[in-house]
Amino acid sequence: MQRMVATWGAQLRWAALLAQPQGPSLDQVLICGMGGSGISGDFAAALCSAPVRVHKGYGLPAWAANSGTAVLAVSYSGNTEETLSAVEAARAGGLRLAAVTSGGRLLEVARSEGWPLVEVPGGLQPRAALGYLLGGVISLLGGWGISSIGPNELNAAAALTDSLLDKASAARLDASRLAASLDGRMVGVYGSEGLVAPAAQRWKTQINENAKWPAWWALLPELDHNEVLSWSSLSHITRDKVGLVVLRDRDEGARVAARVRITAEVMDRDVNWVGEVWSQGELPLERIVSLAVMGDLVSLELARLAGVDPVPVEAIEELKQKLAEEPS
Ligand code: PA5
Repeated sequence: MQRMVATWGAQLRWAALLAQPQGPSLDQVLICGMGGSGISGDFAAALCSAPVRVHKGYGLPAWAANSGTAVLAVSYSGNTEETLSAVEAARAGGLRLAAVTSGGRLLEVARSEGWPLVEVPGGLQPRAALGYLLGGVISLLGGWGISSIGPNELNAAAALTDSLLDKASAARLDASRLAASLDGRMVGVYGSEGLVAPAAQRWKTQINENAKWPAWWALLPELDHNEVLSWSSLSHITRDKVGLVVLRDRDEGARVAARVRITAEVMDRDVNWVGEVWSQGELPLERIVSLAVMGDLVSLELARLAGVDPVPVEAIEELKQKLAEEPS
């Protein structure tokens, strides 16, 4: 997994070279995908100013069926049943389709029906292919006039990623310090609405999948209206067994910054605020990717502390296998 994570920069540079398929100008897109693939949609939605919505489930949301929206299916394997079911619903509704995948049924259908398609290199774990998947999504959205992210932004993010992943980088040291403070604790990843939100979600899922470790994510300001209350009843457990990390971005806004400070003060009696991680770089793509890379590094450090191999995802595979044996 260390080797796969080290290819983040190369993946973004690969995406910078993609020819942008030219399509009609669209005003909204629905991205359908699960897990390590679906998160590319959340990143794209945070980066685009046009409406990009993300669907993670079977079929299509009720609003989409007759909306005329385009559907962009993202599945690294190309065989994820929820994503294929969304594709079937979109085909049945006559919606415009496109795909990002490395193979499987999705690749077959996309090729045979001539959809706009980005075929990403295979052989990785889906969650380790986010540079390819996000790059593919950005390229297709660009062709529809929904994303304006181009090669310069992708190359800048690639360069930043390389520097963060350098063996002697301060980021690696920060990640291992943070992981050491989180050792033995369930991890809450806090962020704020906007650019930081998908990064918080990605931290949570990377900690789950790479370290096989419980984690959740929540966002400001919403968590100030519910989760802030949750620390008193079980504080004899949570004080020592939960660690909170806050992801920050310079554009989070003054009110959010005040909320981070005051929320920490209010919760501090009962739960441990372990640290904060600031996004790096100038451009939104650099900043969101820098947070994601830090989350990858922390998740790998936690895996090392737990003594587990980050790569296998046996429970996910067992689930998929058992579901395949169920009558549909
Ligand atoms: O990280 C993983 O392996 C999972 O979260 C997968 O991404 C998820 O099960 C969906 O599979 P795919 O990405 O192949 O569509």
